[in-house]
Amino acid sequence: MNTSLVTIDPVQPDQAVIDQAARVIRDGGLVAFPTETVYGLGANGFDDAAARRIFAAKGRPVDNPLILHIAEPEAIRPLVRQVPANARALIRAFWPGPLTVVLERSPSVPDAVTGGLDTVAIRLPRSVIARSLIQAAGVPVAAPSANASGRPSPTTAQAVWQDLAGRVELILDGGPCEVGLESTVVDCTTPVPTLLRPGGITREMLLAVLGELELDRNLSDQASAPRSPGMKYTHYAPAAPMLLIDALPPADTPGLLLREVHAALAAGKRVGAVTSAETARLLPAAVQAAVYGPRDDQAQIAGRIYSCLRQFDHSPVDVIIGEAVAETGMGLAIMNRLRKAAGYQIISR
Ligand code: TXA
Ligand code: MG
Repeated sequence: MNTSLVTIDPVQPDQAVIDQAARVIRDGGLVAFPTETVYGLGANGFDDAAARRIFAAKGRPVDNPLILHIAEPEAIRPLVRQVPANARALIRAFWPGPLTVVLERSPSVPDAVTGGLDTVAIRLPRSVIARSLIQAAGVPVAAPSANASGRPSPTTAQAVWQDLAGRVELILDGGPCEVGLESTVVDCTTPVPTLLRPGGITREMLLAVLGELELDRNLSDQASAPRSPGMKYTHYAPAAPMLLIDALPPADTPGLLLREVHAALAAGKRVGAVTSAETARLLPAAVQAAVYGPRDDQAQIAGRIYSCLRQFDHSPVDVIIGEAVAETGMGLAIMNRLRKAAGYQIISR
């Protein structure tokens, strides 16, 4: 298949390009498009066959359900049985934006989208390109992150191209994504809402609206590999094995990281490092550094972390050594992705 790559302004998108993309979606095709979080791979969310094409293009396991993207809050009604009060409060506070709510599905949602579950995930993005596309398509747009399954999510159109060229009809290039990590996913079908995936809306922000929030099992003990069936697949994996250095104070994370770096160099390995700007200054010249930003700038780290992980696609190394960040605010989501990228290979002392 021939994949078109079309540049589009993220602030005032060209309506002719939006209409062209919407036509591809209505005709059952696949369009990769920017959102404020990461690039999504979109298809008509009412079209079972089109949704199935998403799984084939990504190589995604069919039991991992998709998020339906809508352009206005009222569009949620036909997709769900009901919108409970806690979900309404979240929607009022955080839509449009990087929040996905999981609710009981209505029969109009195809099985391919929900992976056969009784629930459906829904999000109203803030990105103008995304909202214009959904509006023009006139249907909810099913869209996972636009990476090949298992790879770091794409935050630029070039990263999408690398993974999906030849597998999708169209890629819209709206420049780099603003947030850089996926949306926060909250299950609103449990008596107390449950945080399933930390993301662009922090746990602290959710608590301020809800008062109480459960953490999904895979998050309450983030440091150990989860055993639930849906979590068996690798995620966000860079091009070489990664080791994550995560020492609790007063232990010294940069010191531990340098120890591992020197050991790997001494073993004759080509070493990559994903670190803070502060630690990068201490690295030997032989190390290829991907710098995610100053330690106290979580927004910058979130925005850069996936391109740091993808940096080693272009400059091969034998091992990547990553530096943990503090786990407050966006740090919860950043660490969640880093642990998965490292396949839970973590050194803590
Ligand atoms: O920011 C985002 O959410 C991006 C952009 C494109 O919107 N999308 C995204 O989609 O990250 P994806 O497919 O890569 O991640 C969706 C997550 C998965 O962890 C999936 O298992 C979960 O949402 N999910 C989807 N439907 C669900 C459901 N009914 N119940 C529980 N989890 C669900
Ligand atoms: Mg994904």
